[in-house]
Amino acid sequence: MARRFLITGGSSGIGAATAIQISRSEKEAKFALVGRNLERLQQVAQDCIKEGQNVEAFTIVKDFSARNSGVEVINEAVSKLGGKSTQP
Ligand SMILES: NC(=O)c1ccc[n+]([C@@H]2O[C@H](COP(=O)([O-])OP(=O)(O)OC[C@H]3O[C@@H](n4cnc5c(N)ncnc54)[C@H](OP(=O)(O)O)[C@@H]3O)[C@@H](O)[C@H]2O)c1
Repeated sequence: MARRFLITGGSSGIGAATAIQISRSEKEAKFALVGRNLERLQQVAQDCIKEGQNVEAFTIVKDFSARNSGVEVINEAVSKLGGKSTQP
């Protein structure tokens, strides 16, 4: 079963690099990539799919400075990824 990853700051820098590295190392993975810039999120999602073997990558556009954004991101991620995982 694919491990599921919620990656904040997923549109650039450390978050994007982490997502791509996980894509390469996991047999199957599902990502929810969070940031404000949809175009960059979509590019990272494509890179993850290209670099991995069985990768699904979803984007969540959210500004964490907005009220309730954290809860909204968790709810959207659970919906897109298909549930919570207890693995670290
Ligand atoms: N790079 C390093 O060597 C290093 C070392 C130690 C610590 N850090 C710290 O690690 C963090 C990430 O560094 P980085 O180099 O990866 O930075 P970065 O390339 O600027 O990435 C920041 C990420 O956070 C997202 N983000 C910023 N403000 C946001 C907001 N209000 N709501 C939602 N997403 C937001 C950005 O996405 P959008 O622009 O799409 O919103 C982007 O994906 C920073 O806090 C940095 O200080 C970095």
